Amino acid sequence: MQQKWKTPYFLVDEARLVHNLEILKEVSERAGCKILLAQKAFSMYAVYPLLRNYLAGSTASGLYEARLGKEYFGGETHVFSPAYRNDEFEQILHYADHIVFNSPAQVKKYAKQAKEAQKSIGLRLNPECSTQEGHAIYDPCAPGSRLGTTLENLDQSIIPILDGFHFHTLCEQDSDDLEKTVEAVERKFGRYLKGKKWLNLGGGHHITRPGYDLERLIRVIHHLKETYHLEVYLEPGEAVVLNAGFLVSEVLEVVKNGISIAILDTSAACHMPDVLEMPYRPPLQKSGLPEEKVYTYRLAGPTCLAGDVIGDYSFDQPLKEGDILVFEDMALYTMVKTNTFNGMPLPSIVLQKRDGTQELIRAFGYEDFKNRLS
Ligand SMILES: Cc1ncc(COP(=O)(O)O)c(C=O)c1O
Repeated sequence: MQQKWKTPYFLVDEARLVHNLEILKEVSERAGCKILLAQKAFSMYAVYPLLRNYLAGSTASGLYEARLGKEYFGGETHVFSPAYRNDEFEQILHYADHIVFNSPAQVKKYAKQAKEAQKSIGLRLNPECSTQEGHAIYDPCAPGSRLGTTLENLDQSIIPILDGFHFHTLCEQDSDDLEKTVEAVERKFGRYLKGKKWLNLGGGHHITRPGYDLERLIRVIHHLKETYHLEVYLEPGEAVVLNAGFLVSEVLEVVKNGISIAILDTSAACHMPDVLEMPYRPPLQKSGLPEEKVYTYRLAGPTCLAGDVIGDYSFDQPLKEGDILVFEDMALYTMVKTNTFNGMPLPSIVLQKRDGTQELIRAFGYEDFKNRLS
């Protein structure tokens, strides 16, 4: 990989992005569904014109993403928020085509206004069908979840004014879990789907992962379309950019405290917070599991947080100041989650084009840090 930019930087690989987009386009054509980009995972609007060739539009978690989607992505703009703000709703109507509400009370509060603005409105359902293991914070069906309306809380009086329904329950999952979820949705809410215009199956579909069962996904969508005669939407984030980005960083210093620790110019806490939140160990080029290769290091960030640790990795050669380390699968839930804790600089954003050339899309500086403070 070319190394000519100041580290750390995110490098998004257009060829890998297009590889994913082609898979998604094939799914949308074969299944007869529409696929939207969930901007919460990836909002690099410099590549939205490329994505727009393959996807039907974008989905947002609130006003700002809805505006970004409308202004830079085009196509359809959808929005879901657990609770809309009075002082923003009018603007949301300006940018979004589909508005998904989380509860019957939110529908009652905003439906008239949305309908007058000729928007399509829906309700997020909670089918209370957990299919995930291990990542409780990513399970919208966990007991006590605020996300989506359970059958018990469904106020039937709102059904006639709804154009569609939405559910989002998956995280990095295959289509067998979608199938189980659809069974639960049909069992509980099937009678309400009849006569509606659309059903949005949310995100969490790991469609572009090698080995993902595409045929089952397409079967499930065909089944829904044939049974209820509605438009089906998917709104993946991860699957759009899976394995399409890198975070390139440099070793600043190596210290010892029982183990060898390499301090990098990138931080888990600031640049890849999911590493700590989820938590997970990001893939790193030319490395192995601890002790698998001769030299094992703990890779850590330069902040004050003792737990700013990316993970333990082994290498064929000892690490030294100035070595470049390339973390993989760093396009998703990274750029959108960076922060400047400790005054950490934000990584630059670089695009590697299909012809192999690289373009610096954005570099950040002191002003970006300062502008978020007062
Ligand atoms: C409502 C909704 N839609 C779509 C997504 C995108 O999910 P993913 O990036 O896992 O595909 C999320 C993720 O949290 C979500 O909450």
